Amino acid sequence: MKNSFTIIANWKANPTSVHEAGRLAHASDGIADIIVPPAPFLDRVAAEIRLSELGSQDVSSVGGTGSVSGKMLTSVGVSCVIIGHSERRLLGDTDAVVSKKVRSALEAKLKVILCVGEPKSVHRGGLAAIRKFIGAELTASLAGTAKLFRSRAELFVAYEPIWAIGSGRAEDPARVGEVLRSVSEVVARTLPQVTLRTLYGGSVLPENAGALGNVPTASGFLIGGASLNPTKLKLIRKSVSNRYEENR
Ligand code: PGA
Repeated sequence: MKNSFTIIANWKANPTSVHEAGRLAHASDGIADIIVPPAPFLDRVAAEIRLSELGSQDVSSVGGTGSVSGKMLTSVGVSCVIIGHSERRLLGDTDAVVSKKVRSALEAKLKVILCVGEPKSVHRGGLAAIRKFIGAELTASLAGTAKLFRSRAELFVAYEPIWAIGSGRAEDPARVGEVLRSVSEVVARTLPQVTLRTLYGGSVLPENAGALGNVPTASGFLIGGASLNPTKLKLIRKSVSNRYEENR
């Protein structure tokens, strides 16, 4: 049976060697439901894991030198791809590029983990401002993708407030719940055929995972820094064990 809660380990630009990547994958297998290493380590991680799924941190929307296509990714066992992470948006992935990448992923039959999140300046404006920003980002990031989502296709949307990422300070659980509710409303309107799984990301740590995991509208975490430490990852998984048991 499918898990009702999904923990995704986003290693970002870590570790620095294939040897370390192999060890980290071995220690994280089955603790993170999806492990997302840097591209050069995908094949090694695929060989190491038995229980977790394999994800990619990006997919190219154009061909040519340096591009990594969806087909290449599926050929090494990748089943899903993170698109629109704020660190990629900062490097030039506009909403238009993001929606192109979503289309490339879907054409290659990869599941999409779409990231959205507001900067500090928007956050200061309160819930209405955050909702407006996230709604616009989500709509633009999914523009032109409706025909490619099959009925009941799974779509992950990760709400990652930019200011919370890597800061050690997560968003307040009640606020996460409200933002994720509006994410669900926007997706239900624009892509009524998909099965949406909403995630929270941004300084998920053993200390706050229990409270964030109790947010009823959250069905998983996208974890960066803490996912590089198997002890922390285990503690996070333990604090949301009640959510894993919901479906049994
Ligand atoms: P963090 O990163 O857990 O280190 O804040 C989350 C992410 O960037 O996906």
